[in-house]
Amino acid sequence: MNYLLGSEFMRRISNALVVFVDALVEPSRLSLAVAVLLAVGIAPMVVAQAAHTSATPYKDPLMTPEKRVADLLSRMMLEEKATMLAGSGWMESGAIERLGIPAIKMADGPMGVRAWYGSSAITNATNAATVVTSTSFPSGETMAATWDPELVQREGQVIGQEVKALGRDMILGPTVNINRQPLWGRNFEGYGEDPYLTSRLAVAYVRGVQSEGVIPSVKHFAANNEEYERHRIDEQIDDRTLHEIYLPAFKAAVEEADAWSVMSAYNLVNGVHCAENEYLLNDVLRKEFGFNGFVVSDWGSTYSTAATVNAGMDLEMPGGEPMRKFLARPETLESGGGAGWLTTDKVVAAVKAGEISEATLNRNVERILRVIFVSGLFDSPHVASGIVDTPEQRAVALQGATEGIVLLKNGGALLPFDAKKIHSIALIGPNAGVARTGGGGSSLVRPKQAITPEEGIRDVAGSDVKVTYALGVGMEGEKPELDGTEARAKLRKEAADAAAQSDVAIVVVGRYPKLEGESFDVATMDLPPGQDELIQAVEAANPRTIVVLNTGDPVTMTRWIEKTPAILFMGYGGQEGGKALANILFGVANPSGKLPVTMPKHFEDSPAYGLYPGEHLKVNYAEGIYVGYRYFDTKKVEPQFPFGFGLSYTSFEYSGLDVHSSRVGSKEPAVTVTVKNTGASAGAEVVELYIHDGHSQIDRPERELKGFRRVELKPGESRLVEFWLTRQDFSYWSAEKKNWVAEPGAFEVQIGGSSRNIQVRAPLELK
Ligand code: BGC
Repeated sequence: MNYLLGSEFMRRISNALVVFVDALVEPSRLSLAVAVLLAVGIAPMVVAQAAHTSATPYKDPLMTPEKRVADLLSRMMLEEKATMLAGSGWMESGAIERLGIPAIKMADGPMGVRAWYGSSAITNATNAATVVTSTSFPSGETMAATWDPELVQREGQVIGQEVKALGRDMILGPTVNINRQPLWGRNFEGYGEDPYLTSRLAVAYVRGVQSEGVIPSVKHFAANNEEYERHRIDEQIDDRTLHEIYLPAFKAAVEEADAWSVMSAYNLVNGVHCAENEYLLNDVLRKEFGFNGFVVSDWGSTYSTAATVNAGMDLEMPGGEPMRKFLARPETLESGGGAGWLTTDKVVAAVKAGEISEATLNRNVERILRVIFVSGLFDSPHVASGIVDTPEQRAVALQGATEGIVLLKNGGALLPFDAKKIHSIALIGPNAGVARTGGGGSSLVRPKQAITPEEGIRDVAGSDVKVTYALGVGMEGEKPELDGTEARAKLRKEAADAAAQSDVAIVVVGRYPKLEGESFDVATMDLPPGQDELIQAVEAANPRTIVVLNTGDPVTMTRWIEKTPAILFMGYGGQEGGKALANILFGVANPSGKLPVTMPKHFEDSPAYGLYPGEHLKVNYAEGIYVGYRYFDTKKVEPQFPFGFGLSYTSFEYSGLDVHSSRVGSKEPAVTVTVKNTGASAGAEVVELYIHDGHSQIDRPERELKGFRRVELKPGESRLVEFWLTRQDFSYWSAEKKNWVAEPGAFEVQIGGSSRNIQVRAPLELK
């Protein structure tokens, strides 16, 4: 019954009012309407639904979605059903006007509502003829660095509000693919390398979006972990690895948040394209996880008619004229993209030829219709108010950008700046004077306004602090005239001079959408050309240098890190990133972000090194479950910065760990621990709980994250933090049993501030 919660419930109440008004002209409905109006809770309304009859049940909001779907389906002609299986435009599904079935109007996400352009193929925000602006939220990775599911749920909710305000019905997000290796062009979009953290945030985002009656799309199912040859790459992944690493976030979004839609990925998994992968779509997603929403294809990722429909892929995108234009583009064929397989004529022909049974077609249509009813779209189409980027929405974006900044190093307590002692700042770098809000591709949102680091810093520093800006180095490829050796030397010298004449230097480096984004992988883990040299030159001129990393993927820091006193990883902070950065630098906010990924010293250290991008269009996930810290901690490889790591301007102490083995799976917390703020400023600590399996017969990682809590503490304050554990938290996926197995025996609970900073530990005996 979870579809009756929150704003959906309110919508049903208002629909009931409509029925009441109807009843004034149609007396046969009066008693029901009165009953509904008298109802104060959900139960009486459900009783009314069950007892109710109507001549056109599908139009009646008091009918259950199941009854409405069955009734509507019985009225549909074959062609109409077939029409439901493909888009009518670039961002719209097919409408059936005769029956009042609306098109589902979509917009890209997940970091806000991306501009679409009517039903045309142009979706690139910067090319859009009609300029649609909306709040640009931090990237998924930066939101993950907050370790704050409540905030992510709030983000989902306000994004849902913007979707409606712009007259759309569905947002193409969240992205929940795992960061398998540091060069994936879309690492910034997802929630990092850990399936547990990713699951918690996926559930939160989906709940937030759906609470507004907006359809999310959990993407990309499954294992879209590189952009290299994304239409053709065939990933060889064993079942245990799929279940333990690449599928949990989808499972959680389905089981816990009842996600209404999932997007199939471009790639192949074990020899079959995801859009026709019966194992993934039917066996896993539907039977194992219990998914009863619809599957939408990624744009241009379909390759067959019958095989796709029969595998349980419900809605092909894009469709109509934009799809035909897309197919006519030489790049589409070159890249291996496919579309236009589920057009009405092709589906009807396949049904008539017996390649698709009518029952299968009905089942796919039913799944789309059910979401149209359950989301409220059928009864209450979204009317665009155009009101976006409200102070409330901006506040969520700012909070995410601030909580998501990770303080990686703070030698000599250089940060936060003491505004009374700092009189001059040299602000340097290709990302200092421009707002790099996100990586490139379908997730990039065009904000009304975005705050650059320079604007943020000038604003917070105030007029008593002299801020000198120097570019230092051009961003590679942005202005080719700046990329030559001489031009670089000149810019570097200007920056070093500015640094020498200032109290402190801040160097904001990183990438931009042309170097990091969708449809290509990042060329190297190194910073773009000239940026390492810039940092070295500035540090030589002024040892009080802070390096700010404004990028999504990890970068090699070995050339300068020893000499750098302070480093901040700001990721992509969306439109409020510059303000968040300034607040952290000046101590208006205390850093509390923790890395959702391991930062390797070198690309060569990462587990997928040598196994990426694959050979002959096959990539073997031979590192198995050893992704991220599961690899670094088990194989004892020293990272540059470990998973879960992040400093604060204050300090925390852990004590009194209490573990109750008998409470696993019960309503009582199995683990409690006290955390105290032992420093002088208020701050937040993310308390991370890992499980170590001390007795397993099979290979298991050194530790796995199974709980976390973000706690805000005033100076001197302590708090008891509680964790509930279930048997699932101790389980591994048994390929033999094709199920999760929790082996009774000795485990250890480890709690601390990162995967490499375990502060307290205690045994737990699983019965
Ligand atoms: C991306 C999806 C996106 C879709 C629609 C695809 O290229 O992989 O994430 O939602 O395009 O723009």
